[in-house]
Amino acid sequence: MDRLLFSATFLFLFLFNFSLFSAVHSTTFKIVNRCRHTIWPGILTGANRPLFNPTGFVLKSGKSRTLRVPRFWSGRVWARTHCSTEPSTGKLSCATADCGSGRIECAGAGAIPPATLAEFTLNGDQGLDFYDVSLVDGYNLPVLIIAKGGTRGGCSSTGCLVDLNGACPRELSVVRGNGSREGIACKSACEAFGDPVYCCSEAYNTPDTCHPSPYSLFFKNACPRSYSYAYDDKTSTFTCAGADYIIIFCPLPYTSQKLLSARKDSAELPLVNKTMLYIGRHLRSLSSPG
Ligand SMILES: *[C@@H]1O[C@H](CO)[C@@H](O)[C@H](O)[C@H]1NC(C)=O
Ligand SMILES: *[C@@H]1O[C@H](CO)[C@@H](O)[C@H](O)[C@H]1NC(C)=O
Repeated sequence: MDRLLFSATFLFLFLFNFSLFSAVHSTTFKIVNRCRHTIWPGILTGANRPLFNPTGFVLKSGKSRTLRVPRFWSGRVWARTHCSTEPSTGKLSCATADCGSGRIECAGAGAIPPATLAEFTLNGDQGLDFYDVSLVDGYNLPVLIIAKGGTRGGCSSTGCLVDLNGACPRELSVVRGNGSREGIACKSACEAFGDPVYCCSEAYNTPDTCHPSPYSLFFKNACPRSYSYAYDDKTSTFTCAGADYIIIFCPLPYTSQKLLSARKDSAELPLVNKTMLYIGRHLRSLSSPG
């Protein structure tokens, strides 16, 4: 009798744990820092979605961290750079993509632009994960998303593999405050000029009236698969089911096809525009838009 009860309880606990496990932990993100410097990844969960912890952490050069992601999670991942702690107050602040929390954890705060964003919605329509890399809020680091082990969907890699900080048009460039003039981020035209034409706001808030600008084309030409302006969605959102994701900050511009390992690369546009790999500091200003 006792033994039977024990077995039944054991079986129940085993099944309960098993279902709990599969319901909560279906996907992992492996976040990799290939930059030559330390980064401080930040994670923001969308409204009414299961919380994801941590919301921020430190990742030294060459290191990676694998995180379990709640099944119906939606949100964004980015990386803060050039962070330091103010000795008198103990507050953390970062030169790019700060979340303003003053701490390593962002605790519900998003990236202050400019920031390259890796965006995800897991188990959405038809059970597919939707993901993209967005430069709509500007750019601070190259990012690559690789889907591994997907069972449905194109599972293409996406991202922005080119370092655009040196090539950023001068009017969009964010430079280090210490007089070195080193480009550390590149603003979107919306943020730099606040003009509804660039922001796709007010009268420009529809797919018919919101168009790419010479500035959004600068980002799109360099990183053909990334989102470059608000309605740039036909070629820039990717889907996959049942995958784990590798999010690499500062990937090598020539990442091997073997590593990318898409199930069936359905992307219309190349991941890297080879003509843009050599854009240098001498090519700094775009012709002024009319
Ligand atoms: C600015 O800071 C960076 C990183 O700390 C350093 O490498 C560079 O030499 C500094 N530049 C100047 C002009 O102080
Ligand atoms: C690559 O960049 C050039 C400009 O340098 C642009 O004309 C071309 O359309 C881009 N190609 C793609 C596939 O985006």
